[in-house]
Amino acid sequence: MPTVRQVIGTYPAEPRYLLAALQDIQAQYSYISVESMREVADYLGVPESRVFSVATFYQALSLVPQGKKVVKVCNGTACHLRGAPGLVDAIEKELGVKNGETTPDGIFTIQTVNCLGACAMAPVIMINERVYGKVTISRIPEIIEEERKDALRND
Ligand code: FES
Repeated sequence: MPTVRQVIGTYPAEPRYLLAALQDIQAQYSYISVESMREVADYLGVPESRVFSVATFYQALSLVPQGKKVVKVCNGTACHLRGAPGLVDAIEKELGVKNGETTPDGIFTIQTVNCLGACAMAPVIMINERVYGKVTISRIPEIIEEERKDALRND
């Protein structure tokens, strides 16, 4: 696994690369640690408080480790009206963790989000890059099982 300096060292040491550097760290380690933020601040010459505020502003960036599979459940208006709250409950039950948490095996993290841009397919969930539309509660176990197999296959 590359060091933080190796990950961000591809950028010139200029403050304007802050967001890009944090995105790369997120992609590499699945979260942004306090040590990573210090390293970014030092390398790009920006205050640690600014790094922290950017890292906490964007939903795509996380300060806690994420699972290999991030289950995003859309709770935007269209999805909400078509049963998203029931899907959140079903996924929480299936995985045994609450929204915002990661399973003990480190495979899944659940997140609710506001709109995934696929409202015509509501209710929608997205697991990493894969979009599932018109999801019903009865499909949840099968979707989770398939994604679990995929995560274990790619270990
Ligand atoms: S509201 Fe769910 S995809 Fe837009």
